[in-house]
Amino acid sequence: MSVASRETMTAPPSTAYRIVEVAELYSDVIKRHAVEGKFVGASEAESPWVPFGDNAAIRHLGFDVRRNIFSNILWIKSPGVIGTHRHRGTVVMMCMEGSVRYLEYDWVATPGSLITETPGQTHTLVTDHPNGVKLFGWLEGAIEFFDDKGTFIETLDVWWFINHYETHCREHGIPINPQLYL
Ligand SMILES: [Fe+2]
Repeated sequence: MSVASRETMTAPPSTAYRIVEVAELYSDVIKRHAVEGKFVGASEAESPWVPFGDNAAIRHLGFDVRRNIFSNILWIKSPGVIGTHRHRGTVVMMCMEGSVRYLEYDWVATPGSLITETPGQTHTLVTDHPNGVKLFGWLEGAIEFFDDKGTFIETLDVWWFINHYETHCREHGIPINPQLYL
């Protein structure tokens, strides 16, 4: 980009507080095939904390069954461990509260830290923080969990996460929120 074109660039931002109609070449195709975006509000009525073991809970936020992708907040409530697991897809997580690290790495994530995990990585998540950790994430593919002898225990994937959410809702009379299904 030349200096001249940079200087003549006028958008963004905009000061127009109104919906602007924009020309769309494929509006008919989009109307027939596009999938609406979703919204999940902050309240537990829209998505409750679902227990995950004795010291943790998951707030489910999205399930994409076409691509085996799921979004949630993992909350570990006090110092503790999530067992050794191996990823078969990519995970992107942001630390929201507290802190978290892995036994296998030398860094500690604090609020605002971004964590990316990739297929083939195997590691053991630990929080040493007195208030534990809250991690928001987009997770893709199977996550394989192992016991402390390295024996495979269980695969967690989009079906596991949907079942975890829906079972809790059924048992507590909470309506299933269709906004979670992408
Ligand atoms: Fe992981």
